[in-house]
Amino acid sequence: MSEMNAVARFFINRSNVRRSRRLLETLRDGFVPPPSARILELGAGRGGLSALLLERYRPGRLVVTDFDPRQVNAARTYLTERFGRLPPAVELEPADARALPFDDRSFDCVFAILMLHHVESRPSEYRQRPGALREIRRVLVDGGTLVYSDFSRTEEVRRTLESLGFERVFERRRWPHRELAVFRSPRPG
Ligand SMILES: C[S@@+](CC[C@H](N)C(=O)[O-])C[C@H]1O[C@@H](n2cnc3c(N)ncnc32)[C@H](O)[C@@H]1O
Repeated sequence: MSEMNAVARFFINRSNVRRSRRLLETLRDGFVPPPSARILELGAGRGGLSALLLERYRPGRLVVTDFDPRQVNAARTYLTERFGRLPPAVELEPADARALPFDDRSFDCVFAILMLHHVESRPSEYRQRPGALREIRRVLVDGGTLVYSDFSRTEEVRRTLESLGFERVFERRRWPHRELAVFRSPRPG
């Protein structure tokens, strides 16, 4: 697992709001959550995307997680300052994408933005990601949505998701996301 050092954390957190706004613009036609959706955000960082998800989609439940408790605290502070209090739909907790502390089929949507390569010791490896992708499948409802972006081993991620029955329903390739894609989890039958 590659935890970010203080300098990397500073720079990635600084660009988090701007990048997240661009990401939602790009996603405009590719992602529509159900009303009162239950959304899980993995590796959320300082919470810029979380704030935009709240404003744009008004989810019934938004669980903001990160492996690093310092990032969870940064997100708590950011969201509380931005909304004047922590919005009631929001829960924040540390969570490792490789072993999610959530029940099966408990979310309609999962966001994994620029974070999956971090589950590896080195971003060039592809050892831990299949387990994290299986965890995402486990916590998603049937027909749920994964919004994913990253810049390393994206073809392998797609193949692993397809082997789990996911279907890619939207894709854009644009900096800083080598791939920004929406995958739908399988429906039975
Ligand atoms: C590059 S940052 C991206 C943050 C945010 N999603 C964004 O777009 O700005 C990657 C985040 O993943 C977190 N992370 C690292 N390993 C993780 C793991 N095993 N499970 C969940 N999050 C992890 C890091 O702490 C960091 O906050």
